Amino acid sequence: MTRGLSLRLEVFDDAEAAGAAAAEAVAAALSSATRPVLGVATGSSPEPLYRHLARTVTPGVFSDLEVFALDEYVGIDPAHPESYHSVVDRTVSVPLGLDAARVHVPDGSAPDPHAAAARYERAIVAAGGIDVQILGIGGNGHLGFNEPGSPFDSETRVVQLAAETRNANARFFPKEDDVPTHAITQGLATIAAARSLVVIATGEAKAAAVLAMSTGEISVDCPATLLRTHPRAAVFLDRAAARLIPSFEAPDLSERMVMEFHP
Ligand code: GLP
Repeated sequence: MTRGLSLRLEVFDDAEAAGAAAAEAVAAALSSATRPVLGVATGSSPEPLYRHLARTVTPGVFSDLEVFALDEYVGIDPAHPESYHSVVDRTVSVPLGLDAARVHVPDGSAPDPHAAAARYERAIVAAGGIDVQILGIGGNGHLGFNEPGSPFDSETRVVQLAAETRNANARFFPKEDDVPTHAITQGLATIAAARSLVVIATGEAKAAAVLAMSTGEISVDCPATLLRTHPRAAVFLDRAAARLIPSFEAPDLSERMVMEFHP
């Protein structure tokens, strides 16, 4: 990651290579923090990243790591296999050997989810803020569960999921109606407050969102355009997700954007 560039895009042949490079960026950023705090995303995009981190780090190196998940469904039992509690446990905490007491996920089953969201925001601040936030991107450009229209100054809060998001996440539930309608998500200001951002987007289905994120107007209509305002954001793509972006030699690319191809 390079200071002073708003968005760095690195394109790899496939999702595994993108994940491996993203994992190296995460490990490097964490190693320079004194009391490292990592923000983690769920979804399929960061799975190669987590696998690569688990394979390459020295055992025990993450014993004092504090971890905050991006989001959680509202009204889901934390023990449900598709709750983000369970997903973070399965894909991050267990493979990385994290101390469960240091892994935080919003409490979507709290009687008052709004209060739980506010508590979560305070807990992130109390931990000293997030050093590295890992992010995926929704097909509609969402970050966490900040759907299009989410204010850039939003904090952790309860949100309603877009129909497109419920449809995309129906693959994890017996039927689409079973996908929760609401979630607690870190806000866009919460995400932007992280000292560095590592974003991963792979596959055809992300190509339009990646194009909008990279070259579209910076606007709440595409929450991912917020990444272009961050001083330390790096995006790791496979060819399929990058395929709509004009080549980095093209004159109409933002001068504050760098693309590197790793064939
Ligand atoms: C989910 C999560 C996001 C994630 C996105 C993309 O609904 N709330 O944090 O980045 O959608 O998911 P995937 O990587 O599976 O495409």
